[in-house]
Amino acid sequence: MLLLAHRGASADAPENTLEAFAEAVRQGADGVELDAMLCGSGEVVVCHDERLERLARLPWEVRLTPWWKLQRADVGSPLGFAPARIPLLEEVLEALPPQFLVNIELKCERADDGGLAEQVARLVRRRGLAGRVVISSFNPLCLFRLAAAAPELRRGLLIDPDKSWALQAYGVSPLVSSHSVHPFHEACTPERVAAWRAAGMSVAAWTVDDPQRAHVLERMGVSYLITNRPGAVRQALHPAA
Ligand code: G3P
Ligand code: MG
Repeated sequence: MLLLAHRGASADAPENTLEAFAEAVRQGADGVELDAMLCGSGEVVVCHDERLERLARLPWEVRLTPWWKLQRADVGSPLGFAPARIPLLEEVLEALPPQFLVNIELKCERADDGGLAEQVARLVRRRGLAGRVVISSFNPLCLFRLAAAAPELRRGLLIDPDKSWALQAYGVSPLVSSHSVHPFHEACTPERVAAWRAAGMSVAAWTVDDPQRAHVLERMGVSYLITNRPGAVRQALHPAA
């Protein structure tokens, strides 16, 4: 089971920042999960929240705020870390080492994603990263757009724990063709994981910091574990000899 650092190693560095991704590398993660959205001037930025109250104590809406202004938001201090800034997706992709896996989550709750899926596909293609990137979303419309724009890129369908009906409809339906399914970890049962695997999909469970639960999921056949603490989980699962 491969370990993906959730928003970077976000227990030890401010989430979705260059610092958190460097920390994921340092802790020996196999890759990172990050959240991508469009900002007001059209660039793809790496940020989880639509508004910046929690992350920067600012009443700014990311999709309406231009990049020059967004760079001034300190998303480190409010979370108890040193000051840090929101990065562009391009900067993050540039900074990660070769072979590192990247799970780019498209954050968009609207029917019209404003070109997010197409832009992310362009960035991934331009950098030649198709082999080590999976692009996921809770929003199936984003995945449809991605499939149309860049069918060769791996798609992952996120399953919202509040929408358990999705477990029946998604993942095994040809209407939403994805290469992997990304359930909340509590939705993983041996039967479901086996069914997803039998349908040819990888399973990426989130977000698990408890080593015992990680061990159970590994034994179920989960392919990727998304965790805030990749170093500690790795050490607990496979203690260094
Ligand atoms: O991609 C897994 C996980 O990140 C989905 O939830 O809210 O942390 O982006 P969230
Ligand atoms: Mg995410």
